[in-house]
Amino acid sequence: MDKIIFSLAGNEKLAASIASGLKCETGKYLYHQFPDEESYIKLNADVSGKEAIVVCTLDRPDSKFMPLYFLCEILKDAGADKITLVAPYLSYMRQDKKFNPGECITSEHFANLLSSFVDELITVDPHLHRISSLESIYSIPTKTIHATPFISQWIKENIKNPILIGPDMESKQWVSQVAKDAGAPYTVLIKSRMGDKNVKVSVPHLKNHNGNYTPVIVDDIISTAATMIKTVEHLKEQDTPSPICIGIHAVFSGNAYSELKNSGTDEIVTCNTILHESNKIDITSAIIAQL
Ligand code: R5P
Repeated sequence: MDKIIFSLAGNEKLAASIASGLKCETGKYLYHQFPDEESYIKLNADVSGKEAIVVCTLDRPDSKFMPLYFLCEILKDAGADKITLVAPYLSYMRQDKKFNPGECITSEHFANLLSSFVDELITVDPHLHRISSLESIYSIPTKTIHATPFISQWIKENIKNPILIGPDMESKQWVSQVAKDAGAPYTVLIKSRMGDKNVKVSVPHLKNHNGNYTPVIVDDIISTAATMIKTVEHLKEQDTPSPICIGIHAVFSGNAYSELKNSGTDEIVTCNTILHESNKIDITSAIIAQL
């Protein structure tokens, strides 16, 4: 089936790389936001009988959701045979349980909504914590790409004597894999979160290592950066060499990026799942391989 790539605003760079890798056309549409912030959308492409690949990473999802939904609906209306959503960052994966009575399990409802208008979902390291796989909440086929081989490769090429640190138990899944591939030791900390920016992280003990190493903190999401900053502070208290902070998804809410930069980290590195100046690890080839 012929493929045609569409990009939601902000995803043009990744969409262009995917189109060039697949040697397929990019689709055009007109998007206009009315003064009252409602969306106008008009398709300017022939999609009949084709697979429409829509690239839309889903950080800050609420404002992206209606344009994404409308685009998918007009693609179907115009005869696209299949809508594949490439959402390298998949939002609403962290509220996967009712922590308190009356709370909404947003991960499930968001999955139901997306599954209602998309035929297939391709994403990168979704935040799977209490949910073991996307299949348990998404009713459409999903493909999950792992950034770990790319992160290990970057570490091997750029860091001498790394010691990897996962800032919480959830991070063990990717930190252990990155450590194995990079041939480096690792340790995993224990975190408790009391509020959006209020986290406690246990102290990493690197005292047994002599000074000739680089601490590398690896996490999936950097949102408020509170988790990273707390870990960097513990390392500073122990006089370790300055750490490198690696996150898969550069969410960086508010001033998080500048706060992390000023916290005493040596370098901040992320994957290009969300466009950001810290993107140094390119996972596009893995997305192309799934299409
Ligand atoms: C949490 O469970 C994730 O793995 C990350 O540790 C978390 O999302 C980081 O959030 P923040 O940057 O706000 O501390």
